[in-house]
Amino acid sequence: MKITKLNIKAFFLLFSSLGFSQQAPQLGKNSIQEVIAAMTLEEKINFVKGIGMVASTGDGPVAGSIEGKVPGAAGSTLLIERLGIPAIIMADGPAGLRIEPKRKNDTKTYYASAFPVGTALASTWNTNMMKTVGKAIGKETLEYGVDVILAPGLNIQRNPLCGRNFEYFSEDPYVSGTLAAAIVEGIQSNGVGTSVKHFAANNQETSRNTIDEVISQRALREIYLRGFEIAIKRSDPWTVMSSYNKINGVYTSESRDLLTTILRDEWKYKGMVTTDWFAGRNYDKQVIAGNDLLMPGRIQESKKIKESLDNHTLTIKDLDRNIEKIFELIIKTPTFKNYKYSDKPDLKASAKVAREAASEGMILLKNNATALPLVTKKIALIGNASYDTFVGGTGSGEVNKAYTIPFWQGLQEAGFIFDARIKDAYFNYIQEAKSKLPKRAGILDVIKPVEEKNWSDSELEQLAQENDTAVLTVGRNAGEGSDRKVDVDYELSPKELSLISRTSKAFRTKGKKLVVVLNIDALIDVAKWRDDADAILISWLPGQEAGYAMADVMSGKVSPSGHLTQTMPMYYDDVPSAKYFPGEPNERPKVSSYEEGIYVGYRYYNTFNKPVAYEFGYGLSYTTFAIQKLSISSKNFSEILKISTTVKNTGRRSGKEVVQLYISAPGKSMDKPESELKRFTKTRILEAKASEKINFLLNASDLASFDTRRSAWVVEPGTYTVKIGNSSKNIHQTASFNVSQEIVVEKVNNILAPQQVLVELKK
Ligand code: BGC
Repeated sequence: MKITKLNIKAFFLLFSSLGFSQQAPQLGKNSIQEVIAAMTLEEKINFVKGIGMVASTGDGPVAGSIEGKVPGAAGSTLLIERLGIPAIIMADGPAGLRIEPKRKNDTKTYYASAFPVGTALASTWNTNMMKTVGKAIGKETLEYGVDVILAPGLNIQRNPLCGRNFEYFSEDPYVSGTLAAAIVEGIQSNGVGTSVKHFAANNQETSRNTIDEVISQRALREIYLRGFEIAIKRSDPWTVMSSYNKINGVYTSESRDLLTTILRDEWKYKGMVTTDWFAGRNYDKQVIAGNDLLMPGRIQESKKIKESLDNHTLTIKDLDRNIEKIFELIIKTPTFKNYKYSDKPDLKASAKVAREAASEGMILLKNNATALPLVTKKIALIGNASYDTFVGGTGSGEVNKAYTIPFWQGLQEAGFIFDARIKDAYFNYIQEAKSKLPKRAGILDVIKPVEEKNWSDSELEQLAQENDTAVLTVGRNAGEGSDRKVDVDYELSPKELSLISRTSKAFRTKGKKLVVVLNIDALIDVAKWRDDADAILISWLPGQEAGYAMADVMSGKVSPSGHLTQTMPMYYDDVPSAKYFPGEPNERPKVSSYEEGIYVGYRYYNTFNKPVAYEFGYGLSYTTFAIQKLSISSKNFSEILKISTTVKNTGRRSGKEVVQLYISAPGKSMDKPESELKRFTKTRILEAKASEKINFLLNASDLASFDTRRSAWVVEPGTYTVKIGNSSKNIHQTASFNVSQEIVVEKVNNILAPQQVLVELKK
């Protein structure tokens, strides 16, 4: 046969139709298994680790995020063009998207919106609000070309000194898990992914990369894993991020018990697991554990994985399994679907959401003689943080926002009048104090407040003469990488205490009031000075709209409806983990023993009758509510219990209320806290005299505790009490029901036991 151009073409057509195509399988067109089969060994080894972020040690690859598609993103996966595998982008973080706002040779800006931090959002107790914030964060993620946002963080606020508490939601796992699920749903409704983190027990920053958190199986199951379990089962986050720490001797990223047996087998999680950045030590163990992706990717990881394959301590099957999970994630992403992102998210729409969420997360702790809302417009606005307001924490949770509205500005724009000389004095003082500080070393360098500006007695006397009310802000900030201290952080400084007491005296002797605003990342002491204040309002770190949100609450446009998702103790030493945090007394503790067991937060204070400054669940409003007409569907429990109640606004202003349902269990063979939160809801805005009916459903798993001896969730027989109120102590209605015989709700694996003796607190 004469070879012509035409029959060469025909030959190729025939060749390819017989399946002898030259082209390698393509992700999305061919099956995942076919694509995996077509990968070279080198590709496989390199694919289970990411690309991105320069390691401070200099040992990480630079490609990817830094100069790549989205500068400032935390990392990406490996691009393999020949198999049609795009690199997907991951960026932080919980309070809004963290990317670089400016790019080389580009005049456009890429600012993201700074939303209130996790604790502020959680204080809303509003799942709808969480979804709305999630939708807005997810939209910015999508429009900036990011596929997965590394949020939310839902570790338990075990101790007020944890430097990352501001990113987390609560001391209670039910609150943490429920709110995390809502924000995940909101974010993922945009077709982008989340990473619930840090799985698990990353409850401190001190020695976070090496610390061994020694925790009983019961405390793990009921407190430290429970929030993750709720969030993961309800909202199916695209990814889970394992943590830095060890649990009972094993790094979480290397723990097959945690990442496969519990997460995948017991909880049926189908998504992908990533390490935290540079976490863990043994890369082969991470791969075997089912930690699918090693981030941000280090050169030595490939070497070690290759060695382990050669030594048969790791198999190709392990790699293939993890690659499959990464592929399943990639296929869902906007990058894979070729989404044409705009780089122009609607920042105005986000700002509106951030403002609403910020005001709803503010908590009114005290309001004597209706000091708030402010009826007078003439205020003496003092305290450094009134002018230099903290709006977010530092570290990976920091957001590069276009602007922030400090408190003074929001109040001024809302028509409050304050002396420009005071403002100037603060501006000058703060500028000078900051100019003496060393240059910030990087995002892990926490921006701490400068020393509080002083006012002499005679100056305060004059302020009291010229103004109607004093508003004094106390500021605190914290961040990733370090924990807080008791002195001059949890505790107020002598200067702050003196300013509060002298301002109080100057104003009160004239019949005028002092409002103290707490612009704080996490709990501080209030017990020592609260009598000096007429009103106390926690703003937390409220995001970029701080000042506007503050003005909304101060003016009465919004009635406060935030409630505490943690307990404010009388003294730091009362905190049940105080003796064991951040670990054995040592500069670099190796072990933190969770001797308080399940008695974390209100579970401790309420059970052991420890007086507190403000209890879990507490928060005032400008109006009052009654929670009435509790009814339960049966006095004998079988499978499901329907509970209903009615909330009535009994005051004169409109407002929202947080309705909380606690259960007190009999505790026959198992130690039980006095009560545990099992359900909550936030009402809509209720006008004066209006009411809303609330319905709750409880099932057996809500009544179960973890029985370590049997590795099972068990409901003991006996009498249970339903307690409904607007805090863990302010119970308006109770009813009881009976469980006639023991119910074993679920049997699970006997794993993650402490390797050393742990004597736990018991009733
Ligand atoms: C943090 C994570 C974060 C990651 C990527 C780590 O240092 O612990 O929360 O997502 O960095 O920036």
